[in-house]
Amino acid sequence: VLADSHAHLDMGEFDEDRDAVIERARQAGLATIINMGCDLPSSAMAIALAERYPEVYATVGFHPHDAAKMAPGDLNGLAEMARHPKVVGIGEIGLDFYRDRSPRDVQRRVFQEQLALAAELGLPVAIHSRNALSETLEILHNWTRSLRGREGRGVLHCYSGDVRQAEELIDLSFYISLAGPITYPGARTAVEVARTVPLDRLLVETDCPFLTPQPHRGKRNEPAYVAYVVKKIAQVRDMPVEAVAEATAQNTIRLFARRRRAEG
Ligand code: NI
Repeated sequence: VLADSHAHLDMGEFDEDRDAVIERARQAGLATIINMGCDLPSSAMAIALAERYPEVYATVGFHPHDAAKMAPGDLNGLAEMARHPKVVGIGEIGLDFYRDRSPRDVQRRVFQEQLALAAELGLPVAIHSRNALSETLEILHNWTRSLRGREGRGVLHCYSGDVRQAEELIDLSFYISLAGPITYPGARTAVEVARTVPLDRLLVETDCPFLTPQPHRGKRNEPAYVAYVVKKIAQVRDMPVEAVAEATAQNTIRLFARRRRAEG
């Protein structure tokens, strides 16, 4: 059994063959796919996919690239969407100081507002952080102080930081999610993270259609390819592939279960 903790099956890249992509995911043993929202329309599309395919669950949110699109009232729109039973988190949200597609001040504000929303709703967060990890950590330190429970706070998706920062995130009760880049030659830091992160804190993802793992690098990514990420992790940890598959699938379910919300 496998889980893809971060996918974008709503994107146009899958319009031609979405059913076939999902079918291949099933054949590969995927029982859970968490589809991210990046703005209001993609969040709505994520929910529509979750209604159509039993293994797909949705998160809703504004990606840092799209932060400038968040209008007054959209936060209420997200809260409304989050009432759907297959919405399991707020994401993907965060900071991207590499592309800077939205002004940094706007990214910071939109990130903080969505963190507050997640806390209010008792939902975990899926975080994107690129060239902004130290500031992201600072924000998460402050955010977690405002929370009561310790479980299921969130995940740092496509983690690209070092081992020390991973430990800091784990101390904050976050999960670390690894993606296709750990299969690329020269991925030294990511491989070190894959080797050292406690197995019960590790998730795997595709971020499809992006970040395609070896040996399909250069082509479109899809959920079935999460198996290559699992295989690489098993190899560097010197563990059976099945054990990594099982643990990461269980971790994904544990993080995105709606238990916290039910506890109020
Ligand atoms: Ni993504």
